[in-house]
Amino acid sequence: MFFASDNWAGAHTAINERLMRESIRFAAAYGTSDLDRAIEQRFNEIFEREVAVFFVATGTAANSLALASVERPGGVVFAHSEAHVIEDECGAPDFFSGMRMIPVEGAEGKINPLNLKARMARYPQTAVHHGRAAAITITQATEVGSIYSLDEIQVVSDIAKAEGLPLHMDGARFANALVALDATPAEMTWKRDVDILSFGGTKNGCWCAEAIVFFDPAMAKELPFIRKRAAQLFSKSRFIAAQFEAYLKDDLWLELAGHANAMADRLREGLRASNTARLAWPTQSNEVFTVLPKEMMKAAQEKGAKFYDWLEPRDMPEPVGDDEALIRLVTSFATTAEDVDAFLSAIA
Ligand SMILES: Cc1ncc(COP(=O)(O)O)c(C=O)c1O
Repeated sequence: MFFASDNWAGAHTAINERLMRESIRFAAAYGTSDLDRAIEQRFNEIFEREVAVFFVATGTAANSLALASVERPGGVVFAHSEAHVIEDECGAPDFFSGMRMIPVEGAEGKINPLNLKARMARYPQTAVHHGRAAAITITQATEVGSIYSLDEIQVVSDIAKAEGLPLHMDGARFANALVALDATPAEMTWKRDVDILSFGGTKNGCWCAEAIVFFDPAMAKELPFIRKRAAQLFSKSRFIAAQFEAYLKDDLWLELAGHANAMADRLREGLRASNTARLAWPTQSNEVFTVLPKEMMKAAQEKGAKFYDWLEPRDMPEPVGDDEALIRLVTSFATTAEDVDAFLSAIA
């Protein structure tokens, strides 16, 4: 009953097997191998255009270096107040980009366009003292399990474009959002004017594979140097490429995300049917948040369930009572229906 995070899961067999095959051959280092090149080409196919791709090891590196590539001296980056770049990356985006992350409020973990405009108005390009607007970043799927619709992405893009700012998407759970929206990678990104994507693989079955994708390769000119200086250019980069090869082959990545989402649906259904636990807010991806009596939470933990308790967000629809707890449950490619049912009976 592992619901703590999707990165608690192991790696998918197809990815492990591909790594095994890669491990017995020699190939050029530092991202110059035949395999690295082939996978770069694969990203062009997936996104239906020529993109510039850079492999890195962590989602934090992907976000931080993506934002570093659009650095403006004195720049500020607008992100949702609960965004991973603000709450969970120990200031790495600020450190690597030399810019400050400015929180913007919004319901369901999504930037509210009116709040965004109001925040941005405080950082015009002439604001030597406050700092100036340099980029906007959104998370898809969000940190609280919601998903920006394609039109909601467009609204944020339009605001960015009106101010001449690049839009970055933190796609640590890109595949989960894609499957939930039944959209193509192109439709969820550059067709909605997203400029740079942190493309996550680790949470969805890879061992350690993340990529920064630029939809306009001209924007990526400095990235080779930014990545090397940040110690993220792997000599054996082809092992990240090998993981992506297996991940993207025959739509494995979509299948794995579909499974994780289906397991979350099963959890949601079970929680909706429960007469003691309740869904904290509606979610659409592989994250489920529930409020349950503290006693039940303890009982589930004693039976071996792993999950994190969660801080109550400001826009919580129904407050958490003193004898209740708010917890996060994350499903993954490795979650089974039996795990879900065992959790549901542990809190019954
Ligand atoms: C929304 C989001 N972005 C980025 C990351 C990447 O984090 P890490 O640096 O741990 O790979 C995570 C992981 O928890 C995440 O949830």
